[in-house]
Amino acid sequence: MLRKSLVSLGLRVNRQQHAGIQTAKAGLNAGNHAGIHRRDAATTTTVINDSVKQKTMDDLGGPSLMSTLNWLFVKGYFKKAQQMQIEHRKIYGPLWKSTFGPLVVVNVATAELIEQVLRQEGRHPVRTDMPHWRRYREVRNHAYGPLTEMGANWQRIRSILNPRMLKPKHVSSYTNTVNDVVTDFIHRVAWLRDTNGGGVMVNDLTEELYKFAFEGICSVLFETRMGCLNEEVPEETQKFIVSVGEMFRLSNIIILFPKRIWPYIPFWKQFAAAWDHLFKISEEMVQKKMAQIQQQVHLKQQVEGAYLTHLLLSDQMTVTEILGSITELLLAGVDTTSNTIAWSLYQLAKIPEIQEQLYQEVIRVCPGDKVPTSEDIAHMPYLKAIIRETLRLYPVVPGNARLNVENEIVVGDHLFPKNTLFHLCHYAVSYDESFFPDAHSFLPDRWLRGSDERTKQHPFGSVPFGFGIRACLGRRVAELEMYLLLSRVKASL
Ligand code: HEM
Repeated sequence: MLRKSLVSLGLRVNRQQHAGIQTAKAGLNAGNHAGIHRRDAATTTTVINDSVKQKTMDDLGGPSLMSTLNWLFVKGYFKKAQQMQIEHRKIYGPLWKSTFGPLVVVNVATAELIEQVLRQEGRHPVRTDMPHWRRYREVRNHAYGPLTEMGANWQRIRSILNPRMLKPKHVSSYTNTVNDVVTDFIHRVAWLRDTNGGGVMVNDLTEELYKFAFEGICSVLFETRMGCLNEEVPEETQKFIVSVGEMFRLSNIIILFPKRIWPYIPFWKQFAAAWDHLFKISEEMVQKKMAQIQQQVHLKQQVEGAYLTHLLLSDQMTVTEILGSITELLLAGVDTTSNTIAWSLYQLAKIPEIQEQLYQEVIRVCPGDKVPTSEDIAHMPYLKAIIRETLRLYPVVPGNARLNVENEIVVGDHLFPKNTLFHLCHYAVSYDESFFPDAHSFLPDRWLRGSDERTKQHPFGSVPFGFGIRACLGRRVAELEMYLLLSRVKASL
């Protein structure tokens, strides 16, 4: 039953971006990085003993700027830049440099080498320095959030934001909230099919999943429903969704221009306007919550709440800082989950046997109308394997980045100076046949404990949520949303 219905949903999966994280992916927009390794800063060859010369960046091969432009715009890789990782690895091997004028990006494309970079990331890891996002905040006097902050202050913010986002006991307390959103999504899908889809089709499922993810993350962060899944989506919400898309689109353009001319290009104005709207919505929610808390205190009522209430009451951050962080969390928490769900539904629609196996697992743990809880999810390994396999084939962040801001580091047999920008080619590694046999096939079983393949996997073969202390802040909430939706969607389809 689940099976036929999924095929008919008319999936159109297209968005693949996560809060600017894939900036180094195409290697293009890294051109304006302040302080990133310049070619002339590291051209020396270090002699480590009399006879053996230490290899450096100079000894690496790789495409010139013209060649990369040719790949992107003539060979057509612009819209599938992640595929370029695979092609370039074939040509240059697992470690190569891409040159953009004075800027050099070092591409790293095996699990072992990625592990080496990440294990040397230092106390305050930096992905990229996001100069345009930071500039906007400076101009408007907003605080940086977890995506844009760096150094000790980043660590301070993360230590405040982490517990209620990542600790299992806190995350499982969001189960009912997320389940309410799932219920509304299921009703909306049924309504859309009846009113616009001849009883069968949902015409733009990715858009609907986007609304689900937005509603889900807002309900966790702000403890408030936004009405994205109502029959009429509120105008402000619709505008927020449009602004997120605009901001990402313009972000990729602005970074191509030198920093000094940003204020004079029309794109900058539009970019700032998109951010203004995102901050405006968050600010309204924060103000509303503050007024609510004051009212409760005034009435001597006990103040209860989850994420935002906790941040406001804990007094560890200023309101400006809370606003900066909440806005970035909101931004990072929508496309990511919605795209992953869309791809997993697409695979389930294509492979009825996998769909059936999932269905059997879900009804075994939750027979009849029982709504799954987070404890139930713990007994659904196949459901989790489906999400893992989806994230291997369609990673939200196909290419992550690290800047080694603290020390020079050795990767493979090359020494790299401080401030080298490493592009971690997760996409290429996810399709590496030596770790993932039959890599292009959707095979969730490979993630099941005890499977032959699982024991051979490399821990850095697929790291969809990143690694270490700078790893994804929303991982647990995202997983909760994805598991609850996938396990319940059977009821409606
Ligand atoms: C399928 C869902 C998601 C995936 C695959 C994903 C993946 C990632 C990855 C790969 C990173 C970079 C980690 C690193 O550099 O090591 C990241 C960072 C981040 N993610 Fe997610 N993410 C998802 C959902 C979410 C959600 C729902 C939120 C918000 C609630 C979120 C908030 C963030 C934030 C704030 C960061 C930056 C953390 C920092 O720099 O300290 N993500 N995510």
